[in-house]
Amino acid sequence: MELYKFKEINGEKVLIYNNMKIKVLIDEKRLRRRVRELGQEITRDYEGRNPILVSVLRGSFIFVADICREIKIPVTFDFMAVSSYGNSKVSSGIVRITKDLELSIENKEVIIMEDIVDSGRTLNYLLKNLQARNPKNMEVCALLDKDVPRKTENKVKYKGFDIPNKFVVGYGLDYEEKYRNFPFVGYIENG
Ligand code: IMP
Ligand code: MG
Repeated sequence: MELYKFKEINGEKVLIYNNMKIKVLIDEKRLRRRVRELGQEITRDYEGRNPILVSVLRGSFIFVADICREIKIPVTFDFMAVSSYGNSKVSSGIVRITKDLELSIENKEVIIMEDIVDSGRTLNYLLKNLQARNPKNMEVCALLDKDVPRKTENKVKYKGFDIPNKFVVGYGLDYEEKYRNFPFVGYIENG
């Protein structure tokens, strides 16, 4: 098996793997810095309270693991898994809960933790689904917000980065269940 190898091509950091080129979009340092800021914001906003972080699996697991250690108030965790893409790079538009929450969120303060908002369909579905369980309030924290035209308003209160409309991998995000363990966010270059 080939190991991940970095190369510098025209001053750009590129990872070469199986003849695939993956370019770094957000490196570790920027991720760390921004995740820390977001954690501080949540700490400030929720001081004296005890929100439930609802981590949307699988993509958000690294983000949540990192940001929760920058949040300096007691938080509760729960996990939910949804499937929206199948195994492709294009959103199918069909959202399905494959693992539901274990805790009740009724009358609780909820922060939905997402890896990325693309079409926004997954988030809209989640908001509707969770709102029906009568939380006290609910906000959204997403590491990445993709620049795609959307019909619905943006509901992300805590946002890490705006990114161009590219398919990205790493820091939890996958392509066909691979590359989640890259320590950076990168994109697969075509050709
Ligand atoms: P949406 O429903 O189109 O907003 O897509 C949301 C979900 O699709 C995210 O939670 C991700 O799991 C996945 N997704 C969207 N864009 C990307 C991407 O660029 N790379 C990897 N996964 C993505
Ligand atoms: Mg995925």
